[in-house]
Amino acid sequence: MGIGIAPAKTILFGEHAVVYGEPGIAIPLWEITTTASFQPFRDSDRKRDFHIHSPMIGLDADFSDIPVNLPLKKLIIRLMNLLHLTEPPAKILQIESTIPIASGLGSGAACSVAVIRAFFDEYHSNFDDAEISAIAFEIEKSYHGSPSGLDNTTISFGKPVYFQKGKGFEILKLDSKLNLIVADTGIQSVTSAVVQDVRNHYEQNQAFIRAIGIIAEKARPAVEKGDVQEIGQLMNENHDYLKKINVSCYELDLAVETARKHGAIGAKLTGAGRGGNFIALAEKPSDMIEIKKSLVHIGAKIIL
Ligand code: MEV
Repeated sequence: MGIGIAPAKTILFGEHAVVYGEPGIAIPLWEITTTASFQPFRDSDRKRDFHIHSPMIGLDADFSDIPVNLPLKKLIIRLMNLLHLTEPPAKILQIESTIPIASGLGSGAACSVAVIRAFFDEYHSNFDDAEISAIAFEIEKSYHGSPSGLDNTTISFGKPVYFQKGKGFEILKLDSKLNLIVADTGIQSVTSAVVQDVRNHYEQNQAFIRAIGIIAEKARPAVEKGDVQEIGQLMNENHDYLKKINVSCYELDLAVETARKHGAIGAKLTGAGRGGNFIALAEKPSDMIEIKKSLVHIGAKIIL
């Protein structure tokens, strides 16, 4: 049975600015994952065509009935070509995920990476993380026209990365684990729309985008050393610039303010913004309880 697993990701620094070649820092979240696996049909199943079952996105359909413009269908056609398959496998592709969708944690890229890995496992093909990331990047383009590549890179390699579009990336070794809270506003947001809106206002956003890049540059050594005070301070600054480029919203601002008021050293939105998730950094694990309580109190859902 071919199986593929991919983690979620959270962007610590640099979302949106990475689209324009500024550096970004992201880490995988292995506590929440997407798993794709090939299952045989049970005797009681009438279906014998390649079937996809993905409860998270409400998909339960034969492959032939799935519209060609769906990124998942494009991905599978791409994989069949790569693997020289003339027929899709007469099996069920089961996709399970604990990653909230449309909320800044890379659910789309994780789905792609899990499916790619499941296909390569099923057909005993050896593709490395870079090749997997490149295929996932092609699919990311169909979700939104100009992705930076940060999501698919972090998720395919499954390690913290310092990433710069057009220049490549480096895997970061973190000296210590960050006491990071990830929580969801519950508002779904479409990355492509937010990215496009930032692009539409590029002229007025340009200086802020550079400022976000400088923050990511400064944050790199702090993240590697685990300098919590510096990371927290830079997270707060980063959130302020994300507000300036108009990708925050009332609920995100309230959440980061609440987290800070209850002990977080830093807090910011993560991902595309205008809803979705935010992150808060605590100095010690014991501080996390109070911060989490305050976030639940305002209606946020604790993810991690
Ligand atoms: C989305 O997770 C992150 C953005 O920076 C878009 C991208 O990097 O492609 C908003």
